[in-house]
Amino acid sequence: MKVLVCGGAGYIGSNMTAMLVSQGHEPVVFDNLSKGHRSAVKDVPFVSGDLADFGLLIDTLHKYEIEGVMHFAAFIEVGESVAEPLRYYHNNFNNAHNLLCAMDDAGVRKFVFSSTAAVYGIPETVPITEELTKAPISPYGDSKLNVEKMCSFQSETGRLNYAALRYFNACGAGGGGTIGEDHSPESHLIPLIIQAAMGKREDIKIFGTDYPTPDGTCVRDYIHIEDLCKAHLLALSKLDTERELVYNLGNGTGYSVREVIETVKKVSGKDFKVTETGRRPGDPPVLTADASKARKELGWKTDFPELEAIVESAWKWHTLHPDGYND
Ligand code: UFG
Repeated sequence: MKVLVCGGAGYIGSNMTAMLVSQGHEPVVFDNLSKGHRSAVKDVPFVSGDLADFGLLIDTLHKYEIEGVMHFAAFIEVGESVAEPLRYYHNNFNNAHNLLCAMDDAGVRKFVFSSTAAVYGIPETVPITEELTKAPISPYGDSKLNVEKMCSFQSETGRLNYAALRYFNACGAGGGGTIGEDHSPESHLIPLIIQAAMGKREDIKIFGTDYPTPDGTCVRDYIHIEDLCKAHLLALSKLDTERELVYNLGNGTGYSVREVIETVKKVSGKDFKVTETGRRPGDPPVLTADASKARKELGWKTDFPELEAIVESAWKWHTLHPDGYND
């Protein structure tokens, strides 16, 4: 299928693009390179542009005869979204709206949307099922939930078939450790710990040790990037017939911040300084997925259920790219 990958130069988008190619699809990357890396995209058409540019979107959809769209182009920092809500609603909601308008205009009806566990806010129970109350506590989560709602109403017109995939903590490197995670500035736990292990930062800070969890630190569900991308392919193929698909994507196993630090120490063989600090605002104590719906309906199986293998892939990428993508 000819697939437009919006945000295809970012961490998840570049892994998705490589997987689409490996599965015989024809991806076209659309990215403004505000966050992504040109060198993370290889051997596929690349359109340098912004989702706010309706004319360019229309031209691109027609020129490449696009049949489906995957949308990864969004801001992803919860804390930043609290400080700058309007920027987040503009980029994550308005631009998604523009993209959907262009798709509607061009008659493209298949849409796979990157959603997030942040739509649940502080969940009533864990593991989280898709039916739980959606009560985002940040503009980031709310902007994503609003896009989901817009898709749902639009799908009722019969002109959109969409999948909203709610990611838990995406991590690891794809392509045998060759397509990795390089944010600037970096805020995600695993790359930060790896940087500490590589001596690139003085320490790793634990944000909060007084949570109601077994060791007092936050518990998250870490899902390997390739497992995540596999679910996108399965969802895309279902959109031939399905109007609306909503899935949680996680392993279902929670690891605490301390456990992640210990795993990086084990995989890297390095010791480094760990500093305990206060809580980071907006962090729920525990987020783990009940992904049984995706397993049952999509036939989704994960290849990386263990954190150690996930961290090994990330460690490989970081040691191969000590300065990131360098572009
Ligand atoms: N953490 C630390 N020290 C750090 C960085 C993170 O202790 O230096 C902790 C956080 O407090 C959190 C855990 O490590 O408890 C994971 O933090 P990340 O920033 O790696 O990931 P989040 O769980 O905050 O965020 C993830 C995605 C976001 C998404 C969010 C939805 O990365 O894009 O889930 O809940 F918005």
